[in-house]
Amino acid sequence: MSLTVKFKVNGTERSVATDPERRLLEVLREDLQLTGTKYGCGEGQCGACLVFVDKAPARSCLLPAAAVEGKSVTTIEGLARGEALHPVQEAFLEEGAMQCGYCTSGMILAAAALLEKKPDPSDAEIAADLNGQICRCNGYLRIVSAVRRAAASLRTRHG
Ligand code: FES
Ligand code: FES
Repeated sequence: MSLTVKFKVNGTERSVATDPERRLLEVLREDLQLTGTKYGCGEGQCGACLVFVDKAPARSCLLPAAAVEGKSVTTIEGLARGEALHPVQEAFLEEGAMQCGYCTSGMILAAAALLEKKPDPSDAEIAADLNGQICRCNGYLRIVSAVRRAAASLRTRHG
């Protein structure tokens, strides 16, 4: 059975004919060519597939496509504002907080969500919050530094 699912992706209305049980991750990567969202475990365990659905972090490998009907999805491709990278993206680059990069888009989105609710997290709070995001390259020290750097940058911008 095929259903047309209409939802916004990175600010643009999209309409996709798909099996409604197909996972959002597959729709993003295969139908919309948004390959920044990664397939890691496919079981909700690693966070590589993290996106925002109506601004809340969600694991797109678990979400049926029909669940985002009428909603607004943000992927890593939609985080920058035009040419300007999001402060968390900038901080990951500046700290070199990636090796293979497979976890990076999910990690950046998770960090952006954390800083939205907690602008000045301690290292322990960063580690606890990002606990569900797995980095197989074990780059956690640099990732925590990048989140700290992004937090400082965001606090400066917001005065
Ligand atoms: S691929 Fe979705 S949590 Fe691992
Ligand atoms: S940088 Fe390779 S999995 Fe995190």
